[in-house]
Amino acid sequence: MTDIHAAVDAYLGENLLKSDRVLDEIARKSEAAGLVPHAVTPLQAAFLAILIKLNGSKRVLEIGCLGGYSAVAMARALPEGGQLITTEIDTRTAAIAQQNIDTSGFGDRIDLRTGPAVDVLDAEIASGGHFDFVFIDADKVNHKNYLERALKLTGSGAVIVADNIVRGGAVIDVDGQENSVKGVRAMMAYAATLDGLDMTALQTVGAKGYDGMAIFRVR
Ligand code: DHB
Ligand code: MG
Repeated sequence: MTDIHAAVDAYLGENLLKSDRVLDEIARKSEAAGLVPHAVTPLQAAFLAILIKLNGSKRVLEIGCLGGYSAVAMARALPEGGQLITTEIDTRTAAIAQQNIDTSGFGDRIDLRTGPAVDVLDAEIASGGHFDFVFIDADKVNHKNYLERALKLTGSGAVIVADNIVRGGAVIDVDGQENSVKGVRAMMAYAATLDGLDMTALQTVGAKGYDGMAIFRVR
């Protein structure tokens, strides 16, 4: 992260975002509980919320809950009766997230499933689950596995966002040995084989450094 990116992130947030007691509290509690600082930024949370509203999404799937920051930001963007399912592999993290969700005021919209995301998604596929919006933000090693499953859980008009596809630029390192980079590259190679989708990516800088999001829309 460069100072200028973090400073501009703060400036933009101060001007474009209202003070957010709910999300600030989740960020504070997540940090106090020692969770890794990998939640989306406030501006990124607002970006996801806008996509959900633009798409008229009613059912959201999040892959990778961490402390519940993005889950609450997205659930809040849903209309009355909307539902969000989120997954968390780590039981201690899930307990912290559930507390954050319960105190957010949006807990009735959020269904936190504890376990490996691939297993949760396969169960959803088996039971005919269907979503309008998917946010992929778990272990990057499985990015391709998550995109494959997200496509089985969505239909025409659905939007899928995959976080952390740039990794400080490491994604273009063809010899990169880091498993998370290999996972992102596997997802990208898989995306290159897909038809019937509108696809793009945004490089992002800011408080979390240099990264990016891929965006898919099912035609
Ligand atoms: C990492 C994971 C994330 O989801 C993120 O947004 C940033 C970093 C990581 O595992 O390093
Ligand atoms: Mg992420």
